[in-house]
Amino acid sequence: MSARKPIRKAVFPVAGLGTRFLPATKAIPKELLPIVDRPLIQYAVDEAREAGIEQMIFVTGRGKTAIVEHFDIAFELETTMSERGKDLGILEATRFTPGDIITVRQQVPLGLGHAIWCARAIVGDEPFAILLPDELMIGEPGCMKQMVVAYEEVGGNLISVLEVPREEVSSYGVIDPGEVRGALTEVRGLVEKPPASEAPSNKIVSGRYILQPEVMRTLEDQEKGAGGEIQLTDAMARMIGGQPFHAVTFAGRRFDCGSKTGFVEATLALALERDDMGEEVRAIANRLLG
Ligand code: UTP
Repeated sequence: MSARKPIRKAVFPVAGLGTRFLPATKAIPKELLPIVDRPLIQYAVDEAREAGIEQMIFVTGRGKTAIVEHFDIAFELETTMSERGKDLGILEATRFTPGDIITVRQQVPLGLGHAIWCARAIVGDEPFAILLPDELMIGEPGCMKQMVVAYEEVGGNLISVLEVPREEVSSYGVIDPGEVRGALTEVRGLVEKPPASEAPSNKIVSGRYILQPEVMRTLEDQEKGAGGEIQLTDAMARMIGGQPFHAVTFAGRRFDCGSKTGFVEATLALALERDDMGEEVRAIANRLLG
């Protein structure tokens, strides 16, 4: 048995304003926008469950209650469906052991780092995972599972990274790499949105983290960073050196569903792979492309 504390809790920051998707996200949380027929948050929660995580902590804000409803039992819907002889299996992934969905509010969206800090009392003194639901990670096993396997080996703090062409790094957080061993890269530093010419690597931070609870203390006394927001990257950068810090290169695909084109790409890619519609969607795509 591993001596490390298992990762039992995942934090999902879902309090952002989703301004890039307005007006769609005026009344509907961005995290409930569906890729084909599953909302983004469902993909992220499924990924966490696959990694053995039991407790899902949503950091929500105004107008985000529908996310919690999604993981509740819809009594009228289920009763009506049962009466009509419809299969309830489609709702299976939305069911949870009572008490395992926990929400806290981030009253003002002061940034990702601040959103994570809002979950400090629930996270307590355990290592925990963070999943950003607008980054859709598709892989077998899933991204968080790959990270948990790496965590069991090296412990400490872990972030998932992807390798991108150098000219694209300037929109992302980038790692300063140390020793590389298979999918694991030691992290020596983190730089937020560097110009391509100054980037220390082409490995970008990609929305999945396993962090030690000390990050909460670091976030606590942190100044605001870029954009007047409390940045998670800044807090993580301050922890490097004090605790082991590694990046896991994700073997799989990532879709940036926080951007419109990424969202469309994910929809098309996943629809094309579906047994129930792939062929039809391919014919439609071919027809549209002329
Ligand atoms: P983003 O910056 O991609 O999301 O944050 P956003 O602010 O909602 O979207 P745009 O840029 O206005 O379109 C990444 C994740 O962090 C959450 C978001 O909900 C998203 O899941 N977040 C961001 C918070 O929970 N609180 C914040 O203060 C900021």
